[in-house]
Amino acid sequence: MAPWMLDLLVLPLFYSLLLLQYSPSTFAKFQPRYFPSSITHPKSQSLHTNNKLYKTKYFTQILDHFNYNPQSYQTFQQRYLVNDTFWGGPKINAPIFVYTGNEGNIEWFAQNTGFMYDIAPEFKALLVFIEHRYYGKSIPYEGNKKKAYKNSKTLGYLSSTQALADYATLIVDLKNNLTAIDSPVIVFGGSYGGMLAAWFRLKYPHVAIGALSSSSPILQFENITSQYSFNNIITQDFRSESENCYKVIKGSWKEIEETARTRRGLELLRKSFHICKNYISGDYLEGWLSTAFIYTAMTDYPTPSNFLAPMPAYPIKQMCKAIDSLKLGNNTFAKLYHAANIYYNYTGDVSCFDFLDDSDPHDLGGWQWQACTEMVMPTSGNNKESIFPASTYSFEGHAQYCEEAYSVKSRPTWITTEFGGHDITRVLKRFGSNIIFFNGLRDPWSGGGVLKSISKSIIAIVEKEGAHHVDLRFSTNEDPEWLRDVRNREISIMKSWISEYYQNIVDSDAH
Ligand SMILES: *[C@@H]1O[C@H](CO)[C@@H](O)[C@H](O)[C@H]1NC(C)=O
Ligand SMILES: *[C@@H]1O[C@H](CO)[C@@H](O)[C@H](O)[C@H]1NC(C)=O
Ligand SMILES: *[C@@H]1O[C@H](CO)[C@@H](O)[C@H](O)[C@H]1NC(C)=O
Ligand SMILES: *[C@@H]1O[C@H](CO)[C@@H](O)[C@H](O)[C@H]1NC(C)=O
Ligand SMILES: *[C@@H]1O[C@H](CO)[C@@H](O)[C@H](O)[C@H]1NC(C)=O
Repeated sequence: MAPWMLDLLVLPLFYSLLLLQYSPSTFAKFQPRYFPSSITHPKSQSLHTNNKLYKTKYFTQILDHFNYNPQSYQTFQQRYLVNDTFWGGPKINAPIFVYTGNEGNIEWFAQNTGFMYDIAPEFKALLVFIEHRYYGKSIPYEGNKKKAYKNSKTLGYLSSTQALADYATLIVDLKNNLTAIDSPVIVFGGSYGGMLAAWFRLKYPHVAIGALSSSSPILQFENITSQYSFNNIITQDFRSESENCYKVIKGSWKEIEETARTRRGLELLRKSFHICKNYISGDYLEGWLSTAFIYTAMTDYPTPSNFLAPMPAYPIKQMCKAIDSLKLGNNTFAKLYHAANIYYNYTGDVSCFDFLDDSDPHDLGGWQWQACTEMVMPTSGNNKESIFPASTYSFEGHAQYCEEAYSVKSRPTWITTEFGGHDITRVLKRFGSNIIFFNGLRDPWSGGGVLKSISKSIIAIVEKEGAHHVDLRFSTNEDPEWLRDVRNREISIMKSWISEYYQNIVDSDAH
């Protein structure tokens, strides 16, 4: 087992592409704990199934918002998606709902943020989904991804601060074009996109009147949140389902490591887990399994879903059912195999599991750079009770990896310097307004979220049954009562922001 685990936000696809270029010895040293091929599930949702949801547009964006050095005058094409079907238009100052894109293809996020579609008619809202620079089709350097991702010189423009400035620039320009200057804007986002939404409201209050920030771990920096919190929540998710399930998983790591020591053992593991015949190691297998547990905890939704992979409702329950099954006796590997199948092979059409699969259907690879530079989020600590082997987070390990991968120095304190985070209640009590922080307590990222309301208009909505940005998904007839309640609360809060805003316009016109 690698002595440290990399700390990733949602969808830490990232170690794949780079690491595979390393020599075997370097590779072993930087073995990612969270092996990424999980997300590259062959049955991941196709990006082209729902293309009737929006029109695709491009905007000429400035590469470097913060520099007047002529070398920085370059531009790139930024993609954004628009749905104007429900918009009431500028005459009535109908609102504009903007999704602040995360680390991936914006179409994927648009298709998974059904909440905005569900409420657009009621609000007569224009829907806009803006792609984050360096992801999807919003690639600087003439759209040439190879060039844009070449090294730290070309990747240097990939930062959250630049992304927020992109969003502000685009929104202001779009409102001008639509002659909708007075239409109120509300920003939406989940996970990293939710962090961006909250920060956008704080940095650009003149552009957005409010933010719905869902499952955004804005406090998962430095040591504001314990490094053990993330894995403790996963542990709790499985343990509260079944003590036996927790114990089997917890006990399995040692058995895997011991078995992996010999060639015969490795072949046994390959057979037990249906691993393809190209590569296997104990570390990879452990990474592959923990990835399944981590992402299943994140997406432990009450209805069937297809965000990271097709999954049944309450997948943790299903995994533990497989593990607790009496039919498998005390065969740990068979139990784990069946559990992993729920994450990796729910549709049943994977022929073997490929540890070398580094495909990236949602285009999340740029997160590796972001995690190396500013998104340094310590989540990998495991205490004695953890479902994973005990370990502590090492910033040194992280920094060393980033130095070797990109020749870049991590700045672990930059995010709190730029956006805050320390003593957030005290700070935001007298500064800032109109932010909803939603968190579901089954979500491992909820430990780094804002779980207590800060003021009358900076409101925490916490749902103990909820998982990662569950509120943003399309509503279904099977949604439980608590989920409807969460969404209704969000709707009524946003309505109050908008009516207050309209009142303010009337008041200022009267003067
Ligand atoms: C907007 O979304 C709705 C589904 O909610 C869809 O029926 C409509 O065609 C979309 N409009 C555009 C312009 O894409
Ligand atoms: C606004 O209109 C100009 C001129 O047609 C266009 O170049 C620009 O891309 C538009 N802005 C947005 C955000 O679409
Ligand atoms: C957080 O880190 C700082 C700086 O390393 C240290 O001074 C402080 O005591 C730490 N706080 C906690 C709660 O560990
Ligand atoms: C598993 O069960 C078999 C048969 O009951 C038994 O011989 C074996 O010792 C058990 N193994 C473990 C690890 O408990
Ligand atoms: C995937 O599931 C199907 C149906 O249950 C099964 O036949 C197949 O062997 C599974 N694939 C792997 C790699 O285990």
